[in-house]
Amino acid sequence: MTGSTSEGVLPGEVQTGSETPLLRVRDLVKSFPVRGGVGRRGKSFVQAVAGVSFDLSRGETLSLVGESGCGKSTTARCVVRILDPTSGSVEFDGIDLNGLSADDLRRSRRRFQMVFQDPQASLNPRMTIGQTLSEPLHIHGVDPAESRDRIRELMSLVQLRDGDLDRYPHQFSGGQRQRIGIVRALVLRPELIALDEPVSALDVSIQAEIIRLLERLRDQFGLAYLFIAHDLSVVRHLSDQVAVMYLGTIVESGSNSDVYDNSAHPYTQALLAAAPIPDPRIERTRPRIVLAGDPPSPINPPTGCRFRTRCWKAQPRCAEEEPVLADPGIGHLVACHYPEASNVITSRPDRPIGGAL
Ligand SMILES: Nc1ncnc2c1ncn2[C@@H]1O[C@H](COP(=O)(O)OP(=O)(O)OP(=O)(O)O)[C@@H](O)[C@H]1O
Ligand code: SF4
Ligand SMILES: [Mg+2]
Repeated sequence: MTGSTSEGVLPGEVQTGSETPLLRVRDLVKSFPVRGGVGRRGKSFVQAVAGVSFDLSRGETLSLVGESGCGKSTTARCVVRILDPTSGSVEFDGIDLNGLSADDLRRSRRRFQMVFQDPQASLNPRMTIGQTLSEPLHIHGVDPAESRDRIRELMSLVQLRDGDLDRYPHQFSGGQRQRIGIVRALVLRPELIALDEPVSALDVSIQAEIIRLLERLRDQFGLAYLFIAHDLSVVRHLSDQVAVMYLGTIVESGSNSDVYDNSAHPYTQALLAAAPIPDPRIERTRPRIVLAGDPPSPINPPTGCRFRTRCWKAQPRCAEEEPVLADPGIGHLVACHYPEASNVITSRPDRPIGGAL
């Protein structure tokens, strides 16, 4: 489903080798001014994303996980250009999106799309589904006959009928509306889709169906997903790579098994230890780690390591020196001065990881 059709190729687009990641994000920062927030040092800002870097290859899924407010949605929105980053770069297929004119950016948008958490809010209630799905194709100059073919093919792939095209969003269930949101993301034949908690607004019984659908579509069209979810078991099931975010930064990233079976950052270990495990034997015997308090305000983050105010391993150095995201010799990246790899899910309380609060 990739390749240039009537939407054309961007000027300056380079023929890239397979080793070039589809998406390369470097030092991404996004700050929002705080309304009425003027402190002693001038205007205050929320640092929603505070220097995030990652790569995503074609056909792969990278998941962003972390507590509410850590910057997952803002990162995804900067990647698909719903938001302009404050600084840093987002390269898509070797092209720095910052360097594109407004016209070229508009043309490139078809290659990366987004699916939102609330399908109800993301569909225009006054437009039929047919109109909603045709709109982006019209904007990108796709021939009407080809548009109709694409929409019909995708509707059938997500198990909706042609007759549904004349109906309005309120006439569908939540799961059906999310299927429509997925078709809308797919009509322009993107290569990357950012999925921001695509199942968390749905009934549990529907969630698994939508996850299976997303997997099938990814494999069929060779899509890359930037996936955001709170459910760590869903993330584990769907991802190739996982990046754990805390207060606007990535604190640990690696392959699925690196992060789940060999986590080395205290925050990742706390997240994994808090996630329920369906096996009651493991659930009973694994160590408990209780995180103290809430995350600090992103308006005034702690000095040094951002996690230090909740970390049971914090040392004086942690307040002075910000840890860099680097491989401490375990084959994946960790931002901690004192990393210790451990399998939190299966380790036993008589061999605790770093102690528990
Ligand atoms: N438009 C905005 N204006 C001001 N602050 C914002 C804006 N959007 C996000 N923020 C703040 O930026 C931080 C990161 O928000 P973001 O929505 O990216 O977090 P998240 O990880 O997606 O959280 P959740 O899991 O709750 O969706 C939060 O402190 C949030 O309040
Ligand atoms: S750098 Fe220090 S405070 Fe931060 S996670 Fe590591 S041990 Fe904890
Ligand atoms: Mg969010």
